[in-house]
Amino acid sequence: MPIVVAVPKEQTPGERRVALVPEVAGRLAKLGATVVIEKEMGNSAYFLDAAYPQVQVVDEVAKLYQQANVVLKVQPPTEAEIDMMKEGTIVIGFMAPHRDPTRVAKLRDKNITALAMELVPRISRAQSIDVLSSQASVAGYKAVIMAADKASVFFPMLTTAAGTIRPAKVLIIGVGVAGLQAIATARRLGAIVEAYDVRTATREQVLSLGAKFVEMDIKAEGEGGYARELTAEEKQKQQAILAKHVAAANVVITTAAVPGRPSPKIITQAMVEGMAPGSIIVDIASEGGGNCELTQPGKTIEHQGVIIHGPLNVPSQTPLHASEMYSKNLFNLLTLMIKDGQLQIDWKDEVIAGSTLTHGGEIKHAPTRTLVEGGK
Ligand code: NAI
Repeated sequence: MPIVVAVPKEQTPGERRVALVPEVAGRLAKLGATVVIEKEMGNSAYFLDAAYPQVQVVDEVAKLYQQANVVLKVQPPTEAEIDMMKEGTIVIGFMAPHRDPTRVAKLRDKNITALAMELVPRISRAQSIDVLSSQASVAGYKAVIMAADKASVFFPMLTTAAGTIRPAKVLIIGVGVAGLQAIATARRLGAIVEAYDVRTATREQVLSLGAKFVEMDIKAEGEGGYARELTAEEKQKQQAILAKHVAAANVVITTAAVPGRPSPKIITQAMVEGMAPGSIIVDIASEGGGNCELTQPGKTIEHQGVIIHGPLNVPSQTPLHASEMYSKNLFNLLTLMIKDGQLQIDWKDEVIAGSTLTHGGEIKHAPTRTLVEGGK
């Protein structure tokens, strides 16, 4: 089947990332795809229509959907967008299936194939497709930049005629992809960095980035290389040790997550009250409720002189590079589906099968099927 890849403007308020950047549009054309974009689709990430090579620009979004057999998105398609899609369309993007079962049912009923980027298996072969990693990396960097902007102190040591300024102490909690990038960024800004994760495998990574690892005798490696939830006893122990490090920090960045669970609450109100006024917590786990008890997702609050910032959709705040990375991830997935200028999909391919949310009128992802259809 000849391929028509279409990219509409994102509909979600505040989303500035775009699913297609000019470089990737050129690469898709070379693979034999016709590329159609909605007028000004890339503007929010500073990619103007004229920068896109070999694309058709359409004014009316309904016309875009009429032509498309592949639709690229960042945020999940809205119900209105699904209504405009032709039966059998392939839509690729974040799908957040747990957030809106009605939307998933609609994709199923309209026989849309939805490939969910957050479901791409995290295996070596799929690293170049891994949007969770690319976007977490942006978030980790930006979290530190936000902290530096809002902090009441300098990050680097400064020796000036007005005296010597001590470097900031930064504590990073959760050393996955975002945490590692946060460590590297805080170090580049000259801070003294400590980091902590329940997965002991992260210790070496922390040290290799020039930070100190907060030692405690808890090992919580779970399935698939992720963390498991801590027991009540482990949580108590963690809090007792972490409280001292939190109190000593000017800046705390939290990124801890456990797959399929709300963000673990690691920083208690008492720990916040132990921090010096003028300190700041940037909680980028706030999407899942936050790692700090006082975090209000989407808000910046102050509690006894401590700023607690709970930003949502952090990668969208660095839209140009976040879009470049996201778009390349999508391209790498598409290359598995395009042969000799035609769409040829091997549904048994581990990466494709693992990412398929809906296909052929069925919900393929078992946990979502249970959520939407019950025990059927
Ligand atoms: P994530 O976003 O799910 O979690 C962030 C971090 O929080 C993790 O390091 C986790 O161990 C930590 N955490 C959870 N509960 C905690 C607690 N109570 N206290 C302190 N820290 C806590 O993680 P992310 O960044 O998505 O990936 C982590 C894992 O995935 C790693 O094992 C990594 O090797 C693996 N991975 C594999 C890839 C591949 O092979 N393609 C690509 C990227 C990551």
